[in-house]
Amino acid sequence: MNTASMSAALLAWYDGNGRDLPWRARGEARPDPYRVWLSEIMLQQTTTAAAGRYYTAFLGRWPTVAALAAARREDVLAAWAGLGYYARARNLHACAKVVTEELGGRFPRTAAQLRKLPGIGPYTAGAIAAIAFGAREAAVDANAERVIARAFAITEGLPKAKRAIAEAAQSLVPAGRPGDFAQALIDLGAMICTPKNPGCAACPWARDCAGLRLGIAHNLPKKAAKKPRPERRGDVYVMTREDGAVLLRRRPVKGLLGGMAELPSCGWDKAPRPWDSDTPFGLSFTPVKEPVRHVFTHFSLTLRVWRITEPLPLDFAVDAPYFFHPAARMDEAGLPGVMQKAFAAAMEAGET
Ligand code: ADE
Repeated sequence: MNTASMSAALLAWYDGNGRDLPWRARGEARPDPYRVWLSEIMLQQTTTAAAGRYYTAFLGRWPTVAALAAARREDVLAAWAGLGYYARARNLHACAKVVTEELGGRFPRTAAQLRKLPGIGPYTAGAIAAIAFGAREAAVDANAERVIARAFAITEGLPKAKRAIAEAAQSLVPAGRPGDFAQALIDLGAMICTPKNPGCAACPWARDCAGLRLGIAHNLPKKAAKKPRPERRGDVYVMTREDGAVLLRRRPVKGLLGGMAELPSCGWDKAPRPWDSDTPFGLSFTPVKEPVRHVFTHFSLTLRVWRITEPLPLDFAVDAPYFFHPAARMDEAGLPGVMQKAFAAAMEAGET
């Protein structure tokens, strides 16, 4: 493989065809490491369209790493609400604090040092080092893995092939413009070398691609068979007060959706579990007809949603982690996606 000509061909393609994305500092002397880091954390497990909206909102509210470090964790989690994988938001805040309070406000410049920070794994460390600091590092996410496995016809299955793929990717990183190279590889995966029906006719690597030559590109990378997702079930309760406020509670900081606000529930098990009594809080409820479905990484959840039949009196007392939040401002409550769905289902049922 002529790695130098492949790198050059990819960069030329990127210059003409790469996507214009809000975090890309094309032509600017040096991208801002804070912006690069923020975007790369958001882009883990998230599409560019969804990440873009949150990226702009975060930058508007917390324009520097010091501003983000000074924010309350609840506010950062609430601003992240709807983006999913909430450990990222907790780590984002923790990382901002380390950089601000222990590193004098400066991000480390090497991938090895970046990896020591909360929320930064091998992919993100490589991406930040290359994009923000011009380090000669590859950034191999799932899209780049696919492109490289095809270009080098790596037929070993994932995750075993990860090492061979990372080495092949590293062999292509040019000394000049490694950050553009990382983003060009991502764009090639997103725009041309897509999982199904890759657009080989428009690919800058068509002449070099071993997978294409062998006619196996579209079948790569080979993946281990996925285990079926377990099913869980639960009940959530929408309890409104006479003034329209809704009873919420904050989840423990550790674990799934850690630190996020949620509708009270009795836990999510394989089978629905009754609350301590048939009438939770000694109150009566009507079920919403359609349960809410949500897919998490490690399980699928079906939630039955219950609406309180009579609003709670204004003097209904609750202790932490429970609190009331105005129904008219639920979009500011910081509910994760699954809870937004459950609340919307209850509101819709209430209107019919
Ligand atoms: N996914 C991860 N990093 C990205 C980037 N810098 N641009 C577009 N998509 C990405």
